[in-house]
Amino acid sequence: MICRTSEISKQDGKEVTIRGWVYRQRILGDNVFLVIRDAFGIAQCVIKKDAVGEKMHKEASEIFIESSVVVSGTVKKDERAPGGAEIKATKLEVISRGEAFPIQKDLSEEYLLDVRHLWLRSRNMNLIMRARHHIVNYLREWLDSKEFFEIAPPMLTKAGGEGGADMFELEYFGDTASLTQSSQLYGEAMIFSLEKVYTLAPSFRAEKSRTRRHLTEFWHLEPEMAWHGQKENEEVQEQLLSYAIGKMVENHSDLLQGLGQDVEKMKKVKPPFARIMYDDAVEKVNELGGKMKHGNDPGTEDELLLAGAFDKPVFVKNYPKEIKAFYMREDPDHPGTVLNADLLVPGVGEIIGGSERIWDYNELMERMNQSKMNIKTYQWYIDLRKYGSVPHSGFGLGIERFIRYILNVEHIRDTIPFPRTMSRLEP
Ligand code: 4AD
Ligand code: MG
Repeated sequence: MICRTSEISKQDGKEVTIRGWVYRQRILGDNVFLVIRDAFGIAQCVIKKDAVGEKMHKEASEIFIESSVVVSGTVKKDERAPGGAEIKATKLEVISRGEAFPIQKDLSEEYLLDVRHLWLRSRNMNLIMRARHHIVNYLREWLDSKEFFEIAPPMLTKAGGEGGADMFELEYFGDTASLTQSSQLYGEAMIFSLEKVYTLAPSFRAEKSRTRRHLTEFWHLEPEMAWHGQKENEEVQEQLLSYAIGKMVENHSDLLQGLGQDVEKMKKVKPPFARIMYDDAVEKVNELGGKMKHGNDPGTEDELLLAGAFDKPVFVKNYPKEIKAFYMREDPDHPGTVLNADLLVPGVGEIIGGSERIWDYNELMERMNQSKMNIKTYQWYIDLRKYGSVPHSGFGLGIERFIRYILNVEHIRDTIPFPRTMSRLEP
């Protein structure tokens, strides 16, 4: 039976077989030490000539790292070995003897991105990708438990929700299509059937931003809820994020610790989050040494200053309507501002944009005309306000930014296997 590397210490004295890739090789006298990695960890094997025979011993001593192998032998507890046990090999099978591996120590970031397809095998990337899987699963788990339906939005569209400038356009049988910037508008259409829905899909932005938090293709979780105002919208966000973080702390603190995250800090991320009005946020940013003008979107630095002043995520509410998307409902209690909130977190800044949507037909038409939008392209969206419209709200969580926050990853590109940025389309 195949044993995981992470399980061998429980098999003291037993015969096991492990399989994986050579992570390290070291020769000490007549002994060859091979450290083998699989998806869950590493285990050390010692290959002695008298135990495996001359031929296998020679193969082990000449092997390159990253060759794929199957090793059988007896487990012996050994404090010095990684994981606290070692396998005394009786058999070594080289499945594919690799060539000299191109990744050695101290290589530039750019080179590691060039050989991303190989760098994904590194320990850090392994931990991040495992954590990513669990984070996404927990987000889905919470939504499922609250009776949200996952729906499948189109990636090819004519109606971008977030303004025309950042759209990737492509030729579409004599017409022009765009890669979707957000699935929100399609989510809105589906609440009239399913009430609470979400999309988990890529969004594309032709943004010329070279920052540690921008990708041109990112994964976007966008819940949309009938009968929910902005207050309930924020409560859903608090609960959803706290659930995913709580589960990561509870079940995968080894991954967080392996990546250098402070688990105690993450334990404190519980509802209620902090809340601040946009007007007060501008003042606060400037008190903290920023230079933010009222009526502007906060820049990355402003967001980091503001988020850093709270030990929890903070909702920044009621932005001036001129700087926000056409679909956000004006706040009757604070005219000139919209019923929205961006959620900012320390170290990353904005991870969520959300709002209550305009659900009245006339209000939407007026706003779209003011914004000089192409009514024809959005006719189907406007139509939704004609046949039994309801108050509704929703939000978009950038999955990679959320992962950066939970795992304390320095650059957004390391939260996704094959990052797409302005300067990178390969591998
Ligand atoms: O604030 P945004 O643009 O909002 C929307 O797209 C709405 N339609 C969401 C909704 O209400 N359904 O994007 C939402 C989130 C941001 O807060 C950020 O986390 C992420 O998407 N995001 C990006 N992540 C990585 N790279 C980029 N270029 C991103 N642009 C947005
Ligand atoms: Mg935003």
